[in-house]
Amino acid sequence: MSQNKQEVLNVGIDLGTSRSSISASTGDRHVVESYVGWPVDMVARKVLKREVLIGRDALDNRPMLELHRPLERGLIKEGSERDDQAVRELLRHLLSLVGADPESRGDTKVRAVVGVPAAALRVNKQNLRNAMKGLVDNLIIVSEPFAVAYGLEELLHTMVIDLGAGTTDFCVMNGRLPREDDQRTLTTAGDSVDELLTTAIREHYPDARFSIHMVREWKESQSFVGEPKKPVKVSVPVAGRPTEIDITQEMRSACESLLAPVSETMIDLLSRVEPEYQAKVRQNVILSGGTALIGGFGAKLQEELQEIGGGRVRVVKDPIYVGSDGGLTMAVDAPESDWEKLPA
Ligand SMILES: Nc1ncnc2c1ncn2[C@@H]1O[C@H](COP(=O)(O)OP(=O)(O)OP(=O)(O)O)[C@@H](O)[C@H]1O
Ligand SMILES: [Mg+2]
Repeated sequence: MSQNKQEVLNVGIDLGTSRSSISASTGDRHVVESYVGWPVDMVARKVLKREVLIGRDALDNRPMLELHRPLERGLIKEGSERDDQAVRELLRHLLSLVGADPESRGDTKVRAVVGVPAAALRVNKQNLRNAMKGLVDNLIIVSEPFAVAYGLEELLHTMVIDLGAGTTDFCVMNGRLPREDDQRTLTTAGDSVDELLTTAIREHYPDARFSIHMVREWKESQSFVGEPKKPVKVSVPVAGRPTEIDITQEMRSACESLLAPVSETMIDLLSRVEPEYQAKVRQNVILSGGTALIGGFGAKLQEELQEIGGGRVRVVKDPIYVGSDGGLTMAVDAPESDWEKLPA
């Protein structure tokens, strides 16, 4: 390699409400829960021996931390200095996991494609740019479902629905870069299921004690729509005593709350596709994101397509890395002119 040709490290980052992943051109990839926490006081700092904790480490130590989730309802939180710092710390941590942070990369130039919820793409682009300043040299910001479509090479006659925690993002691919009206964002997603489930369980069992983190774990292991295959039972303390409660109906209604908004938006977007291509797109609906793992969800959406001539809904196999892998592929493919250059 010639002396003045700088080495380049390409990375794809999926910046998610609940978890974020990074894929690097070295083949390295990592996923981190999107939590950042600072010790609340001098005791916590002495116990934890760290200035800032990130991911699972932060979640596991949450009573000792001022805990932040940098994204909410598809937007990068703004307002407080801590919120700005949280998104930056999360990005810095992700980069450090693949040796791309400013401390470890030496002279290597780092180029990052970052996938964010479509709403953040419209509203928060500047925030994200600021957060990435000094961390990477070149940047491209794209919507999450587009990164997914790119990674799967599903670029023509496809609809990607990315069911995340904060948002459900839709994107129709017509063989060119998606435009504003090819994309939609709903704030009904995994977090709203957690909220509904919490309220319903509290109503049914007012004496049961549980946290939102417990509710999320119950959902992730036993979520479903349609007829239950088996009852959903969980153990919670009631007046201090571990007690088994049945939450089958609550689980079903909370998960089913996503069906109507998602299928309405899917059908509305389909109806806007050029008439001669609508049938092709109906045959190629792809679900990604953690919330797409709700038992029976894809099958129910496919049933909805029957009403408009039938179609096929698939769930991607590798929902954790599909977004960051797509970003990485895009980083490798992108011509020089597509990159934003960030000041150091
Ligand atoms: N097996 C499962 N069943 C139901 N929900 C699940 C399951 N596994 C994960 N989830 C939910 O998926 C969501 C996380 O998915 P994902 O990682 O795609 O979201 P994200 O990228 O962090 O969020 P967003 O894309 O909205 O910013 C959470 O709400 C989580 O509880
Ligand atoms: Mg996501």
